[in-house]
Amino acid sequence: MKILVTGTSGQLAQSLLAAGLAADVDVVALRRPQLDLTLPGTLRTALADVMPDVVVNAGAYTAVDRAESEESQANKVNAAGAGELAQQCQRAGVALIHISTDYVFDGTKPSAYVESDPTAPINAYGRTKLAGEQAVAAGCERHVILRTSWIYSPYGANFVRTMLRLGAERPEVKVVDDQRGCPTFAPHLAEAILGVSRQIVQLKGGNGPWGVYHAAGSGETTWCGFARAIFAATAARGLPTPKLTPITTAEFPTPARRPANSRLDCALLEQTFGVRLPDWQGGLASCLARLPPA
Ligand SMILES: NC(=O)c1ccc[n+]([C@@H]2O[C@H](COP(=O)([O-])OP(=O)(O)OC[C@H]3O[C@@H](n4cnc5c(N)ncnc54)[C@H](OP(=O)(O)O)[C@@H]3O)[C@@H](O)[C@H]2O)c1
Repeated sequence: MKILVTGTSGQLAQSLLAAGLAADVDVVALRRPQLDLTLPGTLRTALADVMPDVVVNAGAYTAVDRAESEESQANKVNAAGAGELAQQCQRAGVALIHISTDYVFDGTKPSAYVESDPTAPINAYGRTKLAGEQAVAAGCERHVILRTSWIYSPYGANFVRTMLRLGAERPEVKVVDDQRGCPTFAPHLAEAILGVSRQIVQLKGGNGPWGVYHAAGSGETTWCGFARAIFAATAARGLPTPKLTPITTAEFPTPARRPANSRLDCALLEQTFGVRLPDWQGGLASCLARLPPA
């Protein structure tokens, strides 16, 4: 099986490359300018050159706050680019796994979101990602859309690395405690994607488990709960640990609004593919073991 991944430096792309190496799966990741979601010609060339069985669209415009002032740029990558990729996968007869987000929901549901819940994004990034889901579904019959959330990993910029840096720099760190979600360790998501890929690669045509699934780390917490677990681990390592103060979303204004409830119910993924992501606490331990102290 050969997998083509969009983007190279991203948290998920890096994790897919590592997971591919460990599992002896041929994973090819291409970065800009070789593969640019906004340049259809580069997608055509990449598909023709690599000839993958599955494409994983891990590339995206992911700057949630900046997207508020750059929605059309975000749309070019997350919606138009994803749609173009889907159409080219359709023409090439390649299955597409497209990564989407919990931010397609407004966060008002009191329990975890299932796939059939109504979408209603409350920020520009979420709107562009939802448009991407729709373009992928319309463009490529053999598609699996995986909505994930709160990705962290040893790679790139993410909450764990930010907390380690702030914890080393400051005596006190204030973290939002009224947004709930499911932290997702990117290597766990990469394993899940390999599992889904193995199953869909053989399937042809419209008969198959095509559609939208939720794929997040098991368990749930708030950002402050997540920070508490990070600092408990640094304290256990004997590293300087800041005072952690819970605050409300209102006390931490950002350009983009975030859903108060981001929890994703991932039962359908398990029922359909037998794939379940491990809990976020285990992912955090693995992540911290791979990161040098800040
Ligand atoms: N991070 C999260 O918490 C989170 C939560 C829910 C869903 N997601 C979704 O999960 C997926 C993976 O996220 P991530 O955290 O791995 O993202 P990331 O670390 O921010 O990486 C994004 C990747 O997208 C690439 N990219 C950006 N514009 C591109 C373009 N025009 N053409 C091709 N590649 C482009 C970037 O390439 P360069 O290195 O060249 O910039 C980078 O490799 C994305 O679809 C994201 O929307 C993320």
